[in-house]
Amino acid sequence: MTIDWSELERRAVAVRKSAYAPYSGYQVGAALLVRSGQVFVGCNVENASYGLCLCAERSAVAQMVAANEVDPIALVVATRGPKPGTPCGSCRQVLAEFAMDLPVRLVVDGNPSATHDTSLATLLPEAFRKDSL
Ligand code: THU
Repeated sequence: MTIDWSELERRAVAVRKSAYAPYSGYQVGAALLVRSGQVFVGCNVENASYGLCLCAERSAVAQMVAANEVDPIALVVATRGPKPGTPCGSCRQVLAEFAMDLPVRLVVDGNPSATHDTSLATLLPEAFRKDSL
């Protein structure tokens, strides 16, 4: 299937505004497209106990799994700031559970020229996966 990147960007930018980030002030939105064509979105959810903060990407993965979907084919992450925010190491590992590789687009809300295209394999080479168990 063809990937409608602009729709994914729109969804990631929109859900970013729902992020609960009173401590860092850094709102993140993620939109995950699965093979069936559905899109699952997530935002970061912070907590007064800082270590419990949930990232946007893992929030989107949880939405995907709750809908009985396990086959993501594209991810957009939306942030704001001087440069695009890349998924943290924990999110890379969680995504690697569901995709050998995944095209990833990083966008800065309000600055289209900052868009950066990458992939999960680039972000997490030699990932630890279930076939090693
Ligand atoms: N954050 C994400 O949502 N995704 C990432 O991959 C990196 C960091 C969030 C966590 C925290 O709420 C805020 O960004 C600042 O670290």
